[in-house]
Amino acid sequence: MNRSTIAFVAGLCTVGTIALAASHEAPPQIKARQGAMQVVGYNLGLVGGMARGDAEYDAATAQVAADNLVAMSMLHLEPLFPADTLGIEGTRSLPAIAENWDGFQEDWETYGTAVAALQAVAGDGLEGVQAAMGDVGKSCGGCHDDFRLKN
Ligand code: HEC
Repeated sequence: MNRSTIAFVAGLCTVGTIALAASHEAPPQIKARQGAMQVVGYNLGLVGGMARGDAEYDAATAQVAADNLVAMSMLHLEPLFPADTLGIEGTRSLPAIAENWDGFQEDWETYGTAVAALQAVAGDGLEGVQAAMGDVGKSCGGCHDDFRLKN
């Protein structure tokens, strides 16, 4: 093979790899809901770090993180969890979500209530944040226990 043939074959391989990657790409709903959870997790980490004493309490940062957690609770979950995207490769969302949609929705509302309580106190001092964090953490775990595949 001469140089240009090698380059051509290499080029074909690259195209093939890209096509393969595309066909294995997770459905957009999976990426969207995992992204939403990442945003929730990141903002929880900000206040959680303060509550644990890993980061210094900062009223403005705590308030903004709590505001973001509340903003995320406004998401309507229906478009993100269609039944045919549950229990498949690339997702930890269980089919139980479709089977018990009301329970799933209820857990999301519990999360909304918990982060609203956090939002009400987040800027007023570390103690309030620490007190409110328990219910927030429980609300995450409550849903993950029933509706997310264990690691
Ligand atoms: C109403 C249910 C529900 C609540 C409440 C909930 N989660 Fe989740 N979470 C899920 C489900 C379902 C998945 C799996 C998503 C997937 O892989 O499709 C998930 C996945 C995640 C992930 C992994 C995202 C990824 O990239 O795969 C993180 C991080 C996460 N949740 C954090 C949190 C935190 C922190 C809270 C609470 C502040 C929370 N979640 C509250 C249902 C919930």
